[in-house]
Amino acid sequence: MRIDILTIFPGMFDGVLGASILKRAIAAKRLTVRVHDLRRWSPDRKHRKVDDRPYGGGPGMVMRPEPFFAAVEALTANAQRGRKAKGPAPRVILLTPQGQRLTQPVVQRLAKRQHLILLCGHYEGVDERIRALADEELSIGDYVLTGGELPAMVVLDAVARLVPGVLGDATSAHDESFSGPRLEYPHYTRPRVFRRMAVPEVLVSGDAKAIEVWRQLAAWQRTRQRRPDLVKAS
Ligand code: ADE
Repeated sequence: MRIDILTIFPGMFDGVLGASILKRAIAAKRLTVRVHDLRRWSPDRKHRKVDDRPYGGGPGMVMRPEPFFAAVEALTANAQRGRKAKGPAPRVILLTPQGQRLTQPVVQRLAKRQHLILLCGHYEGVDERIRALADEELSIGDYVLTGGELPAMVVLDAVARLVPGVLGDATSAHDESFSGPRLEYPHYTRPRVFRRMAVPEVLVSGDAKAIEVWRQLAAWQRTRQRRPDLVKAS
């Protein structure tokens, strides 16, 4: 899978791309991530400005449409050239608090695509015409961040772990059986007793069937207690 990110703060992505599972997936070529500085496509050759004052007045600055359009057009043309037969077009996603809420089913749908382009807005907002460029708009929750970069990292991480081969075999199989609408069962490791809190007996019993039953039950109890909305929805 390929993911292109358009941002005025490309450096923000160094941390997430340079560590842990994403770093490994990129090194193993399961995942190609390109972070592009939007200023490269600024129509302002001299100062590479990408924002301007809002028509109608008001506080703050608004991101101009031209850099986003030029960048997406360049990336799309490149992607099409890179494929011999005309393959599926990239899915263009604008990160905005006004978008559809990101959920695991949305992540699963996106993970099936070959190519995503993530657009990160900033300042007071983006020029309304940028919406015409996006196939969809996504929000990571009902709160407002300073820009679309952190949401883009969330999308990237959540989608990448579903790309085949990105997680180890054992983990992905596990993910498969628990992708239903419930929370995970509790996990324990050594020591067996820690500050007078003991690991449940069943987990050290060696009885695989009993352990499975305990985990299923614990997952349901936990979901009922903490997220009754998920139980109702299923
Ligand atoms: N940009 C600012 N806040 C956001 C949010 N909650 N989700 C997606 N993009 C955003």
